[in-house]
Amino acid sequence: MACVYVVFLLFFVSFEAVGAQEEPPAGFITLESATLSPTIQPTSWTSPSGLFAFGFYPQGSDFLLGIWLMDEEKTLVWTAHRDDPPVPLDAKLLTINGKLLLRTGQSEEKVIVESASFAFMRDSGNFMVYNQSFHVIWESFKFPTDTILGGQNLTTGAQLFSNLSETNHSTGRFRLGMQPDGNLVLYPVDALPMVLDAYWASGTSEGGNVSVIQMYLNDTNGELVLRNSTNLVKRAILYTSSRSAKNTIYSARLSYDGMFRVYSHSFDSNSNGDKSVLWSAVDEECQVRGFCGLNSYCTRNDSEPYCVCLPGTDFVDSNQKLLGCLKNFTEYSCNNIYYSASYHMGTMSMEECINGCLEDCNCEVALYDKNGYCSKRALPLKYARSDENVLSAAFFKVGKKSIEIKNDTSFIPAHTTEVTTTSTKDLVLILVITVGFITCSFVSLAISGFFIFKFRVAKYRRLLEEGKRGLMEELKMQSFSYKELQKASRNFKEELGKGAFGTVYLGVLHKGKKLVAIKRLEKMVEEGEREFRAEMRAIGRTHHKNLVRLLGYCTEGSKRLLVYEYMSNRSLADFIFKSRTRPPWDERVRIALDVARGILYLHEECEAPIIHCDIKPQNILMDDFWTAKISDFGLAKLLMPDQTRTFTGVRGTRGYLAPEWQQNIPISVKADVYSYGIVLLELVCCRRDLKVNLSKPEEIVLSNWAYKCFVAGELYKLLGGEEVERKSLEKMVKLGLWCIQDEPALRPSIKSIVLMLEGITEIAVPPCPTTTSM
Ligand SMILES: *[C@@H]1O[C@H](CO)[C@@H](O)[C@H](O)[C@H]1NC(C)=O
Ligand SMILES: *[C@@H]1O[C@H](CO)[C@@H](O)[C@H](O)[C@H]1NC(C)=O
Ligand SMILES: *[C@@H]1O[C@H](CO)[C@@H](O)[C@H](O)[C@H]1NC(C)=O
Ligand SMILES: *[C@@H]1O[C@H](CO)[C@@H](O)[C@H](O)[C@H]1NC(C)=O
Ligand SMILES: *[C@@H]1O[C@H](CO)[C@@H](O)[C@H](O)[C@H]1NC(C)=O
Ligand SMILES: *[C@@H]1O[C@H](CO)[C@@H](O)[C@H](O)[C@H]1NC(C)=O
Ligand SMILES: *[C@@H]1O[C@H](CO)[C@@H](O)[C@H](O)[C@H]1NC(C)=O
Ligand SMILES: *[C@@H]1O[C@H](CO)[C@@H](O)[C@H](O)[C@H]1NC(C)=O
Ligand SMILES: *[C@@H]1O[C@H](CO)[C@@H](O)[C@H](O)[C@H]1NC(C)=O
Ligand SMILES: *[C@@H]1O[C@H](CO)[C@@H](O)[C@H](O)[C@H]1NC(C)=O
Repeated sequence: MACVYVVFLLFFVSFEAVGAQEEPPAGFITLESATLSPTIQPTSWTSPSGLFAFGFYPQGSDFLLGIWLMDEEKTLVWTAHRDDPPVPLDAKLLTINGKLLLRTGQSEEKVIVESASFAFMRDSGNFMVYNQSFHVIWESFKFPTDTILGGQNLTTGAQLFSNLSETNHSTGRFRLGMQPDGNLVLYPVDALPMVLDAYWASGTSEGGNVSVIQMYLNDTNGELVLRNSTNLVKRAILYTSSRSAKNTIYSARLSYDGMFRVYSHSFDSNSNGDKSVLWSAVDEECQVRGFCGLNSYCTRNDSEPYCVCLPGTDFVDSNQKLLGCLKNFTEYSCNNIYYSASYHMGTMSMEECINGCLEDCNCEVALYDKNGYCSKRALPLKYARSDENVLSAAFFKVGKKSIEIKNDTSFIPAHTTEVTTTSTKDLVLILVITVGFITCSFVSLAISGFFIFKFRVAKYRRLLEEGKRGLMEELKMQSFSYKELQKASRNFKEELGKGAFGTVYLGVLHKGKKLVAIKRLEKMVEEGEREFRAEMRAIGRTHHKNLVRLLGYCTEGSKRLLVYEYMSNRSLADFIFKSRTRPPWDERVRIALDVARGILYLHEECEAPIIHCDIKPQNILMDDFWTAKISDFGLAKLLMPDQTRTFTGVRGTRGYLAPEWQQNIPISVKADVYSYGIVLLELVCCRRDLKVNLSKPEEIVLSNWAYKCFVAGELYKLLGGEEVERKSLEKMVKLGLWCIQDEPALRPSIKSIVLMLEGITEIAVPPCPTTTSM
């Protein structure tokens, strides 16, 4: 058998040698009798064309074992043991008892491959190792480092890692992953939760594990494609080319600066591997997330990108400015209690914002946005970039001298002129904060970067601001007497609705000028008057365009009433369940985002996080402009900031309740995310989660049915004939399924939800929501 094979192979390489295994055909290296060393010839084995070489490559005063292109630059395309230090002069590559190994000094040995008999440095740049019967047992193409060459595949699950720098070949700061969902994605390596930090994606995710896809670089024209690896059907062309240059080698490399590019290296009579860039995944370095390290940001000087340290920090290594910056002064002792993310301070003047940070020794950065919103941060800051559309100013604590006397820490604006003029676009930073998002091993989220809702939201915001300004001036949070409210509601004549906590009536204030909704609380209140007032004041301080405003309250004896702004277009439940025709898809998508933003404010932007505990369509109201606003928040008690408190007794509404309510484990903000997920699915389908009297039993519980449709790739079934854009539908359903995971930790934070809805990140394939079988 072995013999037949050898003969076939000899025929194949068309060589005249007879089937003696000691005498291999041309190009094959008999390993037992061949060695390489950095100083004694041969130091490498070259391919028949002489364009590629495998062997020892000088690196400073040491050597790497690798493969390089024999152009002017000797471009390295593959390295062995890249994360080990380079090897010294006395290193040796040799084969003992079939083990191809790298020996450094007398004792240290690294086995590269076992039972190796022959090797071949191919003209493609593939170094192949064969066993005694000429079976390929190892090839460098199967273990790419930062480069793939023409003819090479990057298969599902495989990744390229950039090298660290021009002079350091070890694993660097960026990676390119060929994901099982069909998406090819670039990430910074240190992005642990990964999904939100991607900076480029091919956008070819198919949902589910496609699992048989590969990136392929065509060796005749340098075309870069994604294709099915079983039948080689092309799925996407990343770079198309009509070149037909002869004597050209193509390579695709993830560079140390995070750029992924396709190159051609032409070897004709008058050029020795002249390199040119054919295609680049991102246009420029400043778009590479993490191009500049911690505490620095990217900017350009004519054509050169470079990194600038944030004020108060210096380069870690002034020779390697991509590696980030460190604080260059020590402040007097701080507990460093916060902040892994932002600490939100609310709306205030810029001066208050600055002072707030000055007085707080843990605050190192204060961010002041266009809406007068202040938040505090601590260093390090990751992925800082300049964007004057978001922040109006960023302030950094800087030390005058690097000594730890209290009064030596002063606080200056990042750019002195920034404070007074709004048009200068100097140092204004937006900080892209990594949002933790636990996912399974194959993560497939990536950027897409389209803000589909931008126009619409802007329009709504403008309208609202005008309407709201008048309201705020007229009505401050106020305490009413029972009599006043009785009169305003004409003795509780017109009922607007019934909620979990009581009945809501229409009222008129300010001499008939202002319509309000008056809620008479029935069951909940056992707190004393003082606690009730305190709680109401806390709720009254929350202002957000997606929250129904509390205008006032009344507490007299056992009577408790709340006065809210009047919402003319009733509830989301009416809107989606009772409308004669389904509301337009775009409207539903916009409402989903409205609601998510309202919850985001409650969870992350209030003084103390508020868990709503009863998110459902009945509690989401619509104003004159059809902006969705959440009502009844804060009634389920304000949470302590430590979030460890457990609630006794189940609040909320069946169907929207997260499973942990039944399990006697602490309730967290993730309980709201669950309810939000159910609402989202209801918005998609315009039906309630539970719908009995259906002929098909699998459709009774919407959340189960939605998962089944998703797995089967039959999402259109959920819409009963309505035509919507497939991608948008898939996005909403996937997000809904992530939100309703039984395991709270798997549900995304509301912040990630907003980002995903805004289209900034794509959404991974959700696992089955329930652990028990459906
Ligand atoms: C070479 O490898 C092939 C495939 O792994 C195996 O079937 C064959 O037995 C090996 N030959 C020798 C001589 O080890
Ligand atoms: C390359 O970088 C790694 C990680 O920073 C370091 O451990 C190693 O010593 C460096 N190697 C060289 C040759 O500079
Ligand atoms: C994804 O792959 C895993 C493991 O290969 C498999 O168990 C699972 O069923 C696949 N899921 C889909 C949706 O194809
Ligand atoms: C590579 O490109 C050439 C020229 O367009 C084409 O003929 C060939 O089929 C391509 N190879 C593969 C494997 O797709
Ligand atoms: C190959 O890709 C095509 C087009 O995207 C797809 O329809 C087909 O199912 C894929 N085939 C395999 C075997 O994955
Ligand atoms: C690339 O993948 C295709 C299909 O899976 C395979 O036929 C081909 O041999 C692979 N090429 C290399 C160099 O591994
Ligand atoms: C690292 O990669 C860059 C391109 O990204 C290349 O120019 C450089 O030679 C490589 N250095 C080493 C030591 O591999
Ligand atoms: C930016 O460009 C100017 C002149 O164009 C030069 O003087 C300066 O050194 C450059 N700065 C950096 C950081 O490259
Ligand atoms: C810290 O770095 C800033 C520039 O980022 C510089 O202006 C300041 O003088 C440095 N302070 C010390 C103590 O080195
Ligand atoms: C710091 O300065 C303030 C006034 O600017 C002064 O009241 C305070 O005592 C000083 N603290 C120290 C430690 O010198």
